[in-house]
Amino acid sequence: MSAVDPQSRVLSGMRPTGQCHIGHYHGVLKNWLALQHEYDCFFFVADWHAMATHYEDTQALETYTYNLVTDWLAVGINPGAATLFVQSRVPEHAELQLLLSMITPLSWLERVPGYKDQQEKLREKDLSTIGFLGYPLLQTADILAYRAGHVSIGADQESHVEVTREVARRFNHLYGREPGFEENAEMAIRKMGKKPGNLYKKLRKDYLEKGNENALETARALLKEQSNMTLGDQERLFGYLEGTGKVILPEPQAILTPKSRFPGLDGQKMSKSSNNTISLREDPDEITTKLRKMPTDSARIRRNDPGEPDKCPVWPLHQQYSDEARQQWVRQGCRSASIGCLDCKQPLIDAVQAELEPIRIEAIELEKNPDVVKSIIAEGSEAARDEAQDTLRVVREAIGLDYR
Ligand code: TRP
Ligand code: SF4
Repeated sequence: MSAVDPQSRVLSGMRPTGQCHIGHYHGVLKNWLALQHEYDCFFFVADWHAMATHYEDTQALETYTYNLVTDWLAVGINPGAATLFVQSRVPEHAELQLLLSMITPLSWLERVPGYKDQQEKLREKDLSTIGFLGYPLLQTADILAYRAGHVSIGADQESHVEVTREVARRFNHLYGREPGFEENAEMAIRKMGKKPGNLYKKLRKDYLEKGNENALETARALLKEQSNMTLGDQERLFGYLEGTGKVILPEPQAILTPKSRFPGLDGQKMSKSSNNTISLREDPDEITTKLRKMPTDSARIRRNDPGEPDKCPVWPLHQQYSDEARQQWVRQGCRSASIGCLDCKQPLIDAVQAELEPIRIEAIELEKNPDVVKSIIAEGSEAARDEAQDTLRVVREAIGLDYR
């Protein structure tokens, strides 16, 4: 089994509930595009998570899943750089969720912000299911199955990463213990040799006594450099840094997407359920029509009435797409009524068209060859499964479930 470096790993997932729109592009996908060259990335389609809320109509999952991966590829997510896969093809996520469910207090899931709200919001669906309550725990399993040190998410998902951290901590506390842990850790330090051993001790002390995060980072780097150290000793000393036991499942950090509230065509957040989106594969004429039809400041009834960008749904889109000079042109032109609303929208229309044209062309090309997308998913899922299987082996062993 190969050693895993959690700090170099990023995991992120999207639910296959429809076509990607420009909100996803500016929020999630641009983030992924940057991350794929910096980290060992795992990006996946969370089809079981879609089912948690859409269990009554599962027939579209297949189409949505292929569409989603097609969109990723069309915007430039590179299967050579990142592992792209589908959750349900890696059953280890389910096994890990089950194992973790044994040690997860119900109250941790019941108090997740969003659990009660979403149930209220999606009143027409009966979400008093185990699956929906377990949604954050499935997400926990997604993350921990890859021992990913980082998770790319929107701010709305932060509470799920918090659950992940708590569950990982609890797991390590319960199963990372071994008789004589401290003695074994001290022995491992002695094996490092005098100089690195003393440095480790000093850094550990700095972290434990003064909370010095830099010392923690430096100590982790120091451990990674120890080429003669066994994997067991390394896990021990990673764990000893924080005091508990071996770190079997590392606690992940969130990498927040810069903007999780992309403005929609009505000024609300862009989302499929609000029917205010421009999809990544929107027909060009439809793009123009949708933007032309967008509501504007309601005080601007006639062309000569001055308007106020702050009261206009078009303005947040200019803030996304226009540079400072053009924003100035909008503010000034609107307030003095020297430009009309269609004049104001035109550069926006041009910007969106220019942004989406290459994406659409690429997506159409990919749609002509569905086997390409399918084989990318097949290969990615196999590679992901190898990694998840490695983790599950370690997990079963720590629990004592590896007997045969
Ligand atoms: N719950 C996430 C969302 O709705 C999707 C998701 C599932 C996810 N598993 C994940 C995101 C693991 C990051 C990591 O957006
Ligand atoms: Fe909105 Fe532009 Fe019209 Fe002003 S000119 S109301 S910012 S669309």
